[in-house]
Amino acid sequence: MLEDVADLLACPLCAGSLTLDGVLRCPSGHSFDVARQGYASLLRGDAHTGTADTAAMVTARAAFLDAGHYAPLAAVLTELCEGTILDAGAGTGHYLAAAMAAADRGLALDISKFAMRRAARAHPRVGAAVADLWADLPVRSGAVDVVINVFAPRNGPEYHRVLRPGGRLVVVTPRPGHLADLIGPLGLLSVDARKDSRVAGALGDAFTLSGERDLTVPLELTSAEAATLAGMTPSAHHVPADVLAARTAELGPVIEAEASFRVALYARA
Ligand SMILES: C[S@@+](CC[C@H](N)C(=O)[O-])C[C@H]1O[C@@H](n2cnc3c(N)ncnc32)[C@H](O)[C@@H]1O
Ligand SMILES: [Zn+2]
Repeated sequence: MLEDVADLLACPLCAGSLTLDGVLRCPSGHSFDVARQGYASLLRGDAHTGTADTAAMVTARAAFLDAGHYAPLAAVLTELCEGTILDAGAGTGHYLAAAMAAADRGLALDISKFAMRRAARAHPRVGAAVADLWADLPVRSGAVDVVINVFAPRNGPEYHRVLRPGGRLVVVTPRPGHLADLIGPLGLLSVDARKDSRVAGALGDAFTLSGERDLTVPLELTSAEAATLAGMTPSAHHVPADVLAARTAELGPVIEAEASFRVALYARA
């Protein structure tokens, strides 16, 4: 619930503290709506929302993740969580909800209101807000113990600011070969092999790499599940759903693929 995390929030316009009373309000008089579904809207008016997951992508993501296909990744993330968690680019809140088995409370941020609708009810101790990860985060400095970031934009300086000294940042990226058996036949966007070096570069000196774990998850999918998986990837912005469905149908009744993740652990200096 938003109440559980309201003290972590800061005004996206002036960084003042926010108090929750039907709406969120800062001492300078800026106010922000809380949607009927329980998430806050903390976007600045000048935000670029073009990369937000659409309603259809969020529905596909919820169906795929709730079916448990990526449960091994959720388990690894949960092991790394304690205290107050910020999930930056949380999507449906799936991993954050899982992390609550080990953590006290969680704040989900994402620029997609469809994602935040889901995240707001992902777990009783999770609150959700629509926000732009490329802007100053609407979060108080030093307020969180762990930032998790799964296949989402990485704003190193801001993750550093919101983490307490000694806090940790957990970044999950696709490894080369991630879903390779689907990418070719379905015409999906392929993983950029340079991504890992870019991650380290973008985080800069503010973080020290303290551990890395590669995780491979074998998948056995029906063609409907493969279409759902494709529908939650960025390719869904480019390849229409009916085209994806037609292409997956051609792959046969059982489709074998492999998800391949890198989980990198960074210590905040
Ligand atoms: C590939 S999804 C990953 C979602 C979630 N972490 C998961 O793994 O299920 C990327 C997410 O980043 C969000 N996103 C894209 N650009 C963003 C931005 N500028 N600020 C905040 N979120 C953004 C999308 O809306 C989407 O939910
Ligand atoms: Zn303000």
